[in-house]
Amino acid sequence: MEMINLPWLDAGGRLRLDRLQIRNGHLVVAGQPRRLEPSEITAATEQIVVPGYIDAHVHFRQPGQAYKEGIANGCLAALAGGVTTVFDMPNTNPPTCTAAALAAKRRLWNGRAKVGWGLFIGCDGSKIASRVDKTGAANARNGLYKIPTPENLGIDSSAVAAMKVFMARSGSCAAVNDPEVLAQLMLSWPRIAVHAEDESKFPRTATGLTHEQLRPRASVIAALHKLEKALELAEKHYGRMPECRLILLHLSTSEEVQWVRRMKERGYKITAETCPHYLYFTNADLAECGAQLQVNPPIRDADDQAMLWQALADGTIDMINSDHAPHAQAEKASANPPSGIPGIERMWQLLALAADSGRISWQRALALAGQNAAKCYGIAGRGELVDGARADLVVLRRNKAADSYSPRKIVTRAGYDAYRHLKFPWEVERVLIAGKTAWEQHNSRALPLAEEVYAAKPIC
Ligand code: DOR
Repeated sequence: MEMINLPWLDAGGRLRLDRLQIRNGHLVVAGQPRRLEPSEITAATEQIVVPGYIDAHVHFRQPGQAYKEGIANGCLAALAGGVTTVFDMPNTNPPTCTAAALAAKRRLWNGRAKVGWGLFIGCDGSKIASRVDKTGAANARNGLYKIPTPENLGIDSSAVAAMKVFMARSGSCAAVNDPEVLAQLMLSWPRIAVHAEDESKFPRTATGLTHEQLRPRASVIAALHKLEKALELAEKHYGRMPECRLILLHLSTSEEVQWVRRMKERGYKITAETCPHYLYFTNADLAECGAQLQVNPPIRDADDQAMLWQALADGTIDMINSDHAPHAQAEKASANPPSGIPGIERMWQLLALAADSGRISWQRALALAGQNAAKCYGIAGRGELVDGARADLVVLRRNKAADSYSPRKIVTRAGYDAYRHLKFPWEVERVLIAGKTAWEQHNSRALPLAEEVYAAKPIC
């Protein structure tokens, strides 16, 4: 049995001073010793142990574009950020939209991953047939399906993170934005994760428009209307309240916050995510940072940002994930740069900054770092330091020069750190996965491989 003799944050966000014990890769938490309030985390507290971050939204670009990141390098960036579990998005090349593509991607991850991982399956809008073919026979002959249900795709839905739906084309993934298709997806998957920008509301000509004008707020609002219609269709037309958990990805606007509040009040199972770039930048920063901050959906204004912070504090938003979307430096410097911001290697530091400065409580920080993601994505026993949980741990060390900026070696192949202007009070010193040291700030070593989080339920 290994002991960690450092203060640690319990599941309720309070500090415990008893030893954390690890047996067979899992935590042993016994007794009810005195707990300290986080306000008692003082300048004298040099290190604290927190749960490994679950980053449920990453683009590691393999297969097809490993030059932008790759699984092995993406995992190193994750470890540097205190992230011990990631969920990879399907807009790789080829896209992960079929059972065969999923199996091939799983093979790639199996040999390379150094953090726990799960995969999204993508919904390929271009393969959804019109409703003319009632029997489905002609569609099947043409490789089309009416609705990409788990049965139609031949996929065990309990072995993937969720069905990912882009309502605007993203790389290799074509858009889906018909409310009826969305309703049927909600009725056939346990979880769908939605990128809510309706591309039918994008302007037809791009000349002279900024990125924000090319992807207007109106497209987000239209997407929310369609999602609401889909929820209602599922309930009224098909006679069932969807059991499906609808995960609204990367909230960037006040409208989405209000919509999520309303939908939760109406009893729908909604989980809301935002990302650090919407919290730490506004559109006023775009002129200075240029393409480095170009992202979809775009970063909006200060009122939206204030609303996002409020929604984090009051529990409307459930997760902060990186949407780590690296692109090569030459691509970002080109006349037509791709969208996406790398961020995974700052995740725990960004969250600890928010908690340390009092913008959110440490209790909320823990909910946002992994407790909620573990519940939402059905991976019990991760994301919090409780008896029997996996010993996925991060040691945070107080930054001795907290009043200075924190330059550091950049791991991501994107080659830049969007958060280089911030002063971070805590640094990631050491990361353990299943009780074993997986990464140390000042030591490079051969890292062990880590397994798929849904591995107990192999699908193909
Ligand atoms: O900016 C973005 N980049 N938004 C997305 O939804 C996809 C991502 C990417 O894959 O580059």
